[in-house]
Amino acid sequence: MTAIQQRDAVDVLLAQHERIKELFGQVMGAHGTEKRELFDDLVRLLAVHEAAEEELIHPLSRKDNAAGDAVVRARLDEEQQAKRDLADLYDLGTDDAAFDTSLRQLRDAVIAHAEHEEHEEFPALRGAISTEQLTRLAGMVLAAEKLAPTRPHPHSPSSATGNLIVGPPVAVFDRIRDAIRDAGRAGDR
Ligand SMILES: [Fe+2]
Ligand SMILES: [Fe+2]
Repeated sequence: MTAIQQRDAVDVLLAQHERIKELFGQVMGAHGTEKRELFDDLVRLLAVHEAAEEELIHPLSRKDNAAGDAVVRARLDEEQQAKRDLADLYDLGTDDAAFDTSLRQLRDAVIAHAEHEEHEEFPALRGAISTEQLTRLAGMVLAAEKLAPTRPHPHSPSSATGNLIVGPPVAVFDRIRDAIRDAGRAGDR
């Protein structure tokens, strides 16, 4: 990719995959309040990422038969499972002795899910969707990212990044998905 070329939606999603992997590692290496806050960051980042894929990317893969219906259904099932696992981890709490083992299992599942997308879905999408449309979509994925900023540094106060969405993962996912849908509807007007 040259410096002049704009990032397309796949570039943005791939960068998010890398940040998600990194954040899993940071949560595992942290303790106390920092660990709790980093886990909240992870919930938000996963919510933004998976909601953007569910609202903006998977429907295109399905509609234009880029990757195919079975591939999309498998990815959606994995995303639902990850949401359930995140909710269980939230209920367990970051201080619980079993937290790290469960988090490691979720990390492995999320990485496998991301690799499926990278190999089975994204290349087909790039083949089926125009560069212009994928570049436009990149802007929408980045706008979704702004809905749920993560802390620039683990020790920054929460207020540093404005209104952070926190709470049970199911509620965070729903709020972010609704915001992406609202933004999409506003864009249609
Ligand atoms: Fe995904
Ligand atoms: Fe993904």
